[in-house]
Amino acid sequence: MFKVVLVMLVSYLLGSIPFGLLISKMVKGQDIRKYGSGNIGATNAFRLMGLKMGALVALLDISKGVLAVKLADIVLGDQIILLLLAGLFSVAGHNLSIFLGFSGGRGVATSVGVLGTLAPVVVVIVFLVWLSIVLLTKYVSLGSIIGSALIPVLMLWFNKDTALVIFSFLIAAFVIYSHRPNIKRLLAGEENKVGMEQNSNE
Ligand code: G3P
Repeated sequence: MFKVVLVMLVSYLLGSIPFGLLISKMVKGQDIRKYGSGNIGATNAFRLMGLKMGALVALLDISKGVLAVKLADIVLGDQIILLLLAGLFSVAGHNLSIFLGFSGGRGVATSVGVLGTLAPVVVVIVFLVWLSIVLLTKYVSLGSIIGSALIPVLMLWFNKDTALVIFSFLIAAFVIYSHRPNIKRLLAGEENKVGMEQNSNE
């Protein structure tokens, strides 16, 4: 039991590392939370710092999810529920970071790391759907919301383990819930489009 608690705690702390914020301070001397959507994730990092830094933040945020699952695998063994629980803790860390007063990002990249490690084909399909939506509408958040909702459906479609279906549903619900400010802006027709300057800062 001690080992399980320890792995979940480390996964949460790992997820809590706000790479977007750290990189924005190092590269631009700015707080990413005061720019654009105010989100610490890769999309806002892209807005503030461009493609390379956006990609770096995405990779680092994805790696938090991958590492949480790998850590659980090494320490607790290949038990799918514990791997997914560690993944969920890392996403919770990203969205409710202990280093940022329990605020943070939307959890998309970290979820990609978690679910991509355990069900790569599903995540590749969802990535292609996400990319198509972003290219067509220029709304990253819309792609993330629809892509998240699609994940548990595809897990069911591909007859994945019940734990994967349930946890992917929980992770998707958490990620969509974290997009509340984006959903409000989308409904109001005020969401930030990729490649356009804005300062909604919510
Ligand atoms: O992955 C986050 C994305 O869906 C929305 O990002 O910065 O527009 O809130 P942002």
